[in-house]
Amino acid sequence: MEINHLLKKGVEMIKDREYGNPVLEAALLLGKLLNVDRTYIYTHGDTEVSQPIVDKFLELMEKRRLGYPFQYILKEKEFMGLEFYVDEGVLIPRSDTETMVEYILKYIDEKYKDEPINFLDLGIGSGAIILSIAYYKKNVNAYGVDFYDPPLKIANINKERFKLSNVSLYKGDLFQGIEGLGLEGKFHIIASNPPYIPNEEIKTLQTEVKDYEPMSALDGGEDGLRFYKKIIPESKKYLKDGGLLIFEIGYDQGKKVEDILLKEGYKDTRILKDLHGLDRVVMGVVG
Ligand SMILES: C[S@@+](CC[C@H](N)C(=O)[O-])C[C@H]1O[C@@H](n2cnc3c(N)ncnc32)[C@H](O)[C@@H]1O
Repeated sequence: MEINHLLKKGVEMIKDREYGNPVLEAALLLGKLLNVDRTYIYTHGDTEVSQPIVDKFLELMEKRRLGYPFQYILKEKEFMGLEFYVDEGVLIPRSDTETMVEYILKYIDEKYKDEPINFLDLGIGSGAIILSIAYYKKNVNAYGVDFYDPPLKIANINKERFKLSNVSLYKGDLFQGIEGLGLEGKFHIIASNPPYIPNEEIKTLQTEVKDYEPMSALDGGEDGLRFYKKIIPESKKYLKDGGLLIFEIGYDQGKKVEDILLKEGYKDTRILKDLHGLDRVVMGVVG
């Protein structure tokens, strides 16, 4: 079958999916299977595709048709200009999370410049946050914790992919992961994008998310605030005086999380909006 014909067939198969971009997805997938870029796909419509590749392409497009996330098929997701390896078992990094990462990078530049600093990420997933910070700021000594094996495995693959020697990853339940390492009072910044979807809302999410992304990365308990309530008090033990605690939050959680920060004695609290104008980041300083 020729590229043009196959592409059309693929687009037709997934055109009714509510979330996605059928032409782009079909071209990217065929490009990946043929080991060529998207431009080649668009400019070589007459080229014949071998039968095994036709079969593989149609098999994966069928998976996509049923709602399987495109990034798990491609096994890649771009975040902060880096190509992260992703697969089942980790949250696919969201562009909304770049709001927090960009803020942290700017904060490090302004407050610490090239001074060596300690950074902690709780709930690393694919490593999107911790590895982007460690990649762009070589003065950062980065520690990351996750409770589950798939994120740790995938984040370690990405750590190798980006050749980062300033990153240490640990398994554990939040701060338990770094217990006994003598890191109390040592962190300049603690960041987390914890699971924050309230139980009841999970069933309302799109198929791609609720049926395929890990529940352990989504479920924030009854009110969605379970992790903030645990991390905020405990962080005081691990942050330096003047250290920053910064979170990604759901669009309607800014005020609620800020209130917990204030109640626990954090100062200089702020809420940042994402590119859609929704509350997305909340932070406070200890001391
Ligand atoms: C919303 S995901 C964020 C992943 C990644 N940081 C990102 O922004 O793409 C939350 C992560 O927290 C992890 N997690 C859930 N419960 C945890 C716990 N008790 N201790 C440590 N990590 C946990 C999940 O495995 C998941 O990787």
